Amino acid sequence: MVYEALKKNEKRIAVIGLGYVGLPLALEFAKKFEVIGFDINADRIAMMEAGEDPSNELESDAFLNKNIRFSADQTDLRNAHFFIVAVPTPVDEHKVPNLTPLLRATQTVGKALKRGDYVVFESTVYPGCTEEDCIPILEEESGLKFETDFKVGYSPERINPGDKEHTVDKILKIVSGSDPVSCSEIGKVYGEIITAGIYEASSIKVAEAAKVIENTQRDLNISFMNELSIIFDRMGIDTQEVLKAAGTKWNFLKFYPGLVGGHCIGVDPYYLLHKAKELGYDPQVILSGRRINDSMPSFIAKRLVQMMIQRGKSPQKTRVLVLGITFKENVSDIRNSKVADLIKELEAYSIKVDVSDSYADAAEVKHEYDLDLCDQPGTGYDAVIVAVNHSQYANYDEEYFKGLCNEDPILMDLKGIYPPTKNGLTYWRL
Ligand SMILES: NC(=O)c1ccc[n+]([C@@H]2O[C@H](COP(=O)([O-])OP(=O)(O)OC[C@H]3O[C@@H](n4cnc5c(N)ncnc54)[C@H](O)[C@@H]3O)[C@@H](O)[C@H]2O)c1
Repeated sequence: MVYEALKKNEKRIAVIGLGYVGLPLALEFAKKFEVIGFDINADRIAMMEAGEDPSNELESDAFLNKNIRFSADQTDLRNAHFFIVAVPTPVDEHKVPNLTPLLRATQTVGKALKRGDYVVFESTVYPGCTEEDCIPILEEESGLKFETDFKVGYSPERINPGDKEHTVDKILKIVSGSDPVSCSEIGKVYGEIITAGIYEASSIKVAEAAKVIENTQRDLNISFMNELSIIFDRMGIDTQEVLKAAGTKWNFLKFYPGLVGGHCIGVDPYYLLHKAKELGYDPQVILSGRRINDSMPSFIAKRLVQMMIQRGKSPQKTRVLVLGITFKENVSDIRNSKVADLIKELEAYSIKVDVSDSYADAAEVKHEYDLDLCDQPGTGYDAVIVAVNHSQYANYDEEYFKGLCNEDPILMDLKGIYPPTKNGLTYWRL
């Protein structure tokens, strides 16, 4: 059995794709098993060999005393027997799943596959992807027969970048397999590193669906809050106050309005949408949630322009400081940042925007969005938009913002960090 052989170091685990998901997982497994960490990006591999996490999530001591070898050479995978695939599953510019990295990684694994091997997919996909899209590639590349020669499973990842508390070992892990024996074997392997427990899903499709709806549920709940925020803004009611009041009921769910970016919550629902449409069903609720969340940058920009015009200031003469461009707080990840969309919306009104974020990499921001980050905020702004809840922003007070701005400025506090204030500053929040 694979678990026993892994335990005795007669077999090895390979993790394919060492990003936010794959690297912490590989290092955790390397406490208990012999691991090959494989990535196609040789620059990233060189950083990991030097004990550096290219995603800036792990400290260098996370690399110490681990039984792991990093490699960008796919022939090394021939020495592995339990493959875990954790490559990106993005959408393209038409919001259609882009399976290219996943299918390429599957080809790579297929070439290294041997009798008795296991392949577990961790990338977020739509239900059916593992069995319909990936297994045929494994069979074709290896010349082996699924079930008789090799086993497959799916185990979704639930980590939350920037969250130092819910690390991979402390999050209950769903596992699934192509049959009860393989599910149990996969569960035993993960059980060696996951202290929070293992949940055996009844099938691969169930496990795939569970992951995709976790994020779709968050997306929909946030979209409802965003819609409420649009409505209450017209009514002159503070949404946060409404949520505080409603939250006193025992079964009222705690969600808040905000920008939904990144590569999970704003992306995964499109995987479910895609599969539903393929099966002839056109989802209404899921899509409407996505539309509302994607429309928030334009709503916020429009509100700022309205407020500026109401105080007799034309957009052309307006200078705005945006604090934060990463997709969420206390991380360096700028992928699918809705703050970048907001900046583009403001610029489309001819507003001059400065953006500052000490977490983000300036070269990456330039490359991804053609925006220049300021090292430090300047002065003479008409409005400040605090777009991300980085912990360092929590200390800023009214005087700090007024010091950056001209007379009668606007503070748009998109994450509701600060108490509403009226002392020479117009405060607005979602
Ligand atoms: N980041 C998260 O918070 C999170 C949480 C849960 C699930 N997920 C899911 O996990 C998967 C991985 O996401 P991530 O955020 O870790 O991605 P990432 O972009 O951080 O890392 C992906 C890594 O895979 C490598 N890669 C790409 N194609 C490859 C290939 N063909 N072979 C080998 N390596 C390849 C890249 O070089 C990169 O190092 C996605 O499906 C994502 O939806 C992500």
